[in-house]
Amino acid sequence: STSEPVRLEDWVRDIPDFPQKGVLFKDITPLLQDPKAFHVAMDRLAAHYAGAGIEAVVGVESRGFIFGAPLAYLLNCGFVPVRKFGKLPSSTVSVEYALEYGTNVVELHTDAIKPGQRVLIVDDLLATGGTVSASIELVEKMGGHIAGIAFLVELSFLKGRERLEGHDVFALIQY
Ligand code: PRP
Ligand code: MG
Repeated sequence: STSEPVRLEDWVRDIPDFPQKGVLFKDITPLLQDPKAFHVAMDRLAAHYAGAGIEAVVGVESRGFIFGAPLAYLLNCGFVPVRKFGKLPSSTVSVEYALEYGTNVVELHTDAIKPGQRVLIVDDLLATGGTVSASIELVEKMGGHIAGIAFLVELSFLKGRERLEGHDVFALIQY
């Protein structure tokens, strides 16, 4: 018998009122936990970028690491972490960005991206786009070329894609 194609959205669970009242949290842990769903998700991401000439995958701490590292492996390129403030040991560039309350700082090693290098930025979720915009800024500071931005989930109603205008944005699941 042939098996039905995996519907990835079946493996994302809604958690009402997390992390605060009124927010419907999209929980990807069921997808990660299921060997088939996780495998299919990674294969679909890799297939989308096959032949795109990606030279480095940048994953955004922390949930971007979960998808970024296996994607780098599948695309046969290196993995570069964008980390939260104070975690990277060598020389860094920093960008501050706004959160719902307050600000956050993310960093990239100055020698992690080469000028002109074709970079794919990966995160688990596109909400307002603030997090990934900061990562774009970091990569561009080092002269990298953003060849694509990939997400597992996009919350379309938050219009993060508009904030990433001019970039090639791809998401496996859209709400
Ligand atoms: C979440 C999520 C994305 C970001 C999306 O990360 O993993 O990185 O928010 O929101 P945005 O598009 O509005 O910026 P979070 O800051 O909660 O940290 P984590 O990945 O370490 O859990
Ligand atoms: Mg995150």
